[in-house]
Amino acid sequence: MCGIVGYIGSRPALPILMGGLHRLEYRGYDSAGVAFFQEGRIDVVKRKGRLSNLEGALRGQFGDDLSSGGIRLGIAHTRWATHGAPSDENSHPHLSASGRIAVVHNGIIENYLEIKRSLTTLGYRFVSETDTEVVAHLIEHHFTTDACRDLLSAVLRTLGEIEGSYALGVLCADDPDSFIAARKDSPLVVGLGDHGNFIASDIPAILEHTREVLILEDKEVAVLRADGVRVMDTLGRPVDRRPMHVDWDIESAEKGGYEHFMMKEIHEEPRAVRDTVAPRIHGGGIRLDDISLTAEDVARIQRIQIIACGTANHAGHVARHAIESLCRIPVDVDVASEFRYRDPIVDGRTLAIVISQSGETLDTMAAMREAKRRGARTFAIVNVVGSSIAREADDVLYTMAGPEIAVASTKAYNTQLAAVYLLTFRLAVLLGRMTEAECAIWTGKLLALPESLERILSDREVLQRFAYEHFNARSVFFIGRGLDFALSMEGSLKLKEISYIHSEAYAGGELKHGTIALIEEGTLVVCPLTQTSLLDKMIGNIREVKARGAVVLGIACDSAPKVDDVCDTVFRIPDVDPLLAPLLAVTPMQLFAYYVAVNKGCDVDKPRNLAKSVTVE
Ligand code: M6R
Repeated sequence: MCGIVGYIGSRPALPILMGGLHRLEYRGYDSAGVAFFQEGRIDVVKRKGRLSNLEGALRGQFGDDLSSGGIRLGIAHTRWATHGAPSDENSHPHLSASGRIAVVHNGIIENYLEIKRSLTTLGYRFVSETDTEVVAHLIEHHFTTDACRDLLSAVLRTLGEIEGSYALGVLCADDPDSFIAARKDSPLVVGLGDHGNFIASDIPAILEHTREVLILEDKEVAVLRADGVRVMDTLGRPVDRRPMHVDWDIESAEKGGYEHFMMKEIHEEPRAVRDTVAPRIHGGGIRLDDISLTAEDVARIQRIQIIACGTANHAGHVARHAIESLCRIPVDVDVASEFRYRDPIVDGRTLAIVISQSGETLDTMAAMREAKRRGARTFAIVNVVGSSIAREADDVLYTMAGPEIAVASTKAYNTQLAAVYLLTFRLAVLLGRMTEAECAIWTGKLLALPESLERILSDREVLQRFAYEHFNARSVFFIGRGLDFALSMEGSLKLKEISYIHSEAYAGGELKHGTIALIEEGTLVVCPLTQTSLLDKMIGNIREVKARGAVVLGIACDSAPKVDDVCDTVFRIPDVDPLLAPLLAVTPMQLFAYYVAVNKGCDVDKPRNLAKSVTVE
């Protein structure tokens, strides 16, 4: 999500670090900083906002020539806020209490609150709201009080205590000839150069200096010196890693080697869903630390109003099913631009749930204000930390999708659903409609989803082939029942916005009330078939469209019976509880839309007439 660059060698470090940060800026960041070794101490310069703010601060210190300071070692970071709003204090690098250890970090330290509490009782003072700061203090604690012989032992000991995901760069004023990097569930590469060595969260950051990289695997640690790199596991045992030669150009490196950001972002879904759910699940229960809703507040809620646009609105339709079935509270879902003007019935006993990736969509924001004006309590599910909607809502549950660059929303939707499920289970427990034991069963199912997404991604060739055979379709129908209908809306939107093929989503049972007149020889129909209790009914609907010549792509769970007999092609997804199925079954639809658009030669990442963030009415 965030970006990391580090360098040690014979060349001036600051221009290399700033050049690397510039290469990462295309992802859109909210603050940046560097820590560098100079005259026996570590200096940190960090600034909220665009990289130019940091650059200005460095120029204030060094003048226009950043190579003038004689600095040969440093680590740098661009931040996409997760814990704590974008601010100078929350920017990385973070320093330990003595200022002798600096840390940059990507990922989420899941047990940071526990560590923070115990370090606070030992007298450590925290200056930021981030999870990362605990790492700096913990390393120093081990380095100074636990008789760790050196920085490396202190880092290894710290890695044994932190839980969650991390790509880390660690600098210590007492060891100016090296720095340390480590990774778990967050990408980090080591670059091997002629004049020194590098770390980077993304290859483009160092590509102009070297094409020889070591890709660190999970739970690996690297000690970098100007003249060499040692790689080991977190127990300090040497690991033999061969460098890989990268021959991508910068543009494809930014896309992680994928042809488009959309494909890169679809491949990030397992990580994004894991980051959204795992840190919030503890011993089977759900902990939403920043949410102030109490059992009394929840008991007062008489109805829920969901407000969102586009993909986020489709996530809202899934939310309605989930909340109504597990919490038994009536839920309405509106597109934000309609909600504002329909004199909605909203009062002090309404919870307005607002969903938005960007947190800046004007219609959604205005509708949220309208709900608030009428007395509703507002709860936002948002991806961008510190965005306008996040700031104005009474409570915010952040999705951890990371920056989404492609205009077509993909990983944001999966993570919005992940957040919706967390909220639903929590509400159900607070309402006394779900026991903690039942909640643990649900959270166990949630935690299994990232692995299922991995399998879907690895089976994508089936969709690529199907898309190749049908990309000339003039019109595509998505039909489903129950949650599969909610999901069909998203599948249909994805296809139309990037491939420009006319598409509609229909409830399976509604076809015969008019739309079936449009089905003719060769019409393409996509059918999610994940709702076990409605499967026979859907099979009936498929027979109806097949009888009129439709070609049918089914998306069904591994153990779904009979579907091969009625569909032309079936894409199988791992078995999953029907309530959670949209989070998995959307991914084949995103992939299908992607392959169709690529075959048609469309500009996948920047479809015509659309903008990523719609800040006009
Ligand atoms: O940033 P938001 O989630 O509020 O954006 C809402 C819609 O504009 C957005 O989902 C749009 O529909 C996407 N292009 C869909 O891929």
